[in-house]
Amino acid sequence: MPLRGEIPISGAKNAALKLMCASLLTDQSMHFENSPNTLRDMQSQTELLEYLGCTISHSHNAMAINARPIHTQTAPYDIVRKMRGSILVLGPLLARFGHAKVSLPGGCAIGTRPVDLHIQGLEEMGATITLEEGYINAQAPAGGLNGAKILFPKVSVGATENLMMAATLARGTTILANAAREPEIVDLGECLIKMGAKIDGLGTDTIRIEGVSSLNGAHHSIVPDRIETGTYMVAAAMTGGEILLKNARLEHLSAAAAHLTHTGVTVEQLGNDILVARTPDRRLKGIDIMTEPHPGFPTDLQAQFMAMLTLCEGAGLITETIFENRFMHVPELARMGADITVHGHSAIVRGVEKLTGAEVMATDLRASVALVLAGLVAEGETTINRIYHLERGYERIVEKLEGCGAIIKKV
Ligand code: UD1
Repeated sequence: MPLRGEIPISGAKNAALKLMCASLLTDQSMHFENSPNTLRDMQSQTELLEYLGCTISHSHNAMAINARPIHTQTAPYDIVRKMRGSILVLGPLLARFGHAKVSLPGGCAIGTRPVDLHIQGLEEMGATITLEEGYINAQAPAGGLNGAKILFPKVSVGATENLMMAATLARGTTILANAAREPEIVDLGECLIKMGAKIDGLGTDTIRIEGVSSLNGAHHSIVPDRIETGTYMVAAAMTGGEILLKNARLEHLSAAAAHLTHTGVTVEQLGNDILVARTPDRRLKGIDIMTEPHPGFPTDLQAQFMAMLTLCEGAGLITETIFENRFMHVPELARMGADITVHGHSAIVRGVEKLTGAEVMATDLRASVALVLAGLVAEGETTINRIYHLERGYERIVEKLEGCGAIIKKV
């Protein structure tokens, strides 16, 4: 059934989790608006910051954090293992307190996902780091971290953010070269600037940070979630509907939107909203996709686009260049009738006439939402197990889809 209606877009999870960590850099209060507080990942990060001693209060989409009462710089395994985003406390704790002990993270099972780039960067800023019993033990030199010129051998969102935060309180200037350019990093940088940080080059591959001696509290409204936006764009495309995505930014989704347009979907920014529409009786055209660091096509939309391509005219080739094990949705989509062949980092998706409902299993956050999308258009009923993955990153997804006419419920 074509989905029709409006969907409010939440604040970006991948910005919010880092902004919470930025709160550790100051003893003054931070106030966030448009915060996706109901997400499980946000609750894990809250648990971690409260463990460290922060006071946190929420109401609706607002969050206030005060890190003055911090009494420990150790982030324990039991909390960190739930979510990889917790590694982002390392840079701020080390920069402000001169030492930190953070468990090696867990997170989605989409590859080995090391943190070597985070560690090497901090070492270049003068930190002494040892790995013991699953923990990263970091010690800054007397007088604090030093500014450094850091050239990342590989583009990493998390390493760019950790080092950008650490550098705000370091002595001297830090240059991050081959830095990541994701809108969430720009959002974090803009918030750090409101806190008194001196940062140039946000959104480019070279970020320059001049360290200051202390940062202050700030108010910040979190950037809209481009991955949630892209996911609902695909929902409109797959069902042949028309959805207005409220408070969303097409400029953050240029690669994904260009690909959608090639399949035969209309996408346009209308003021603060994005309208996505497809003629219901026309089949989508197959397209080729390669995931890349921003502004390339985001790996976090790869599974959703694959779900869409299962029904396209002809075939599409998907190449995943960011994570080595990010095709776990393939066998689940195959259970619903999809025709997909995986060769190493690429998958050929041959369009079929229809998908059929089945019992399937969510394996990671974005894979699970791809199964929801497939279920929306499959003939019959689809049951998705292990939806806790979904709840890590999609606020009120059942209500948002129901509001546009989907038949979906949480059981
Ligand atoms: C972030 C996002 C995630 C997204 C990813 C890529 C959050 C909480 N998560 O993850 O949703 O899929 O960016 O857009 O924001 N790598 C190393 N060594 C390191 C760090 C990374 O080899 O020290 C590798 C990773 O294994 C991966 C690649 O670099 O192959 C990119 O990872 P990175 O950009 O760091 O992803 P995350 O920040 O973990």
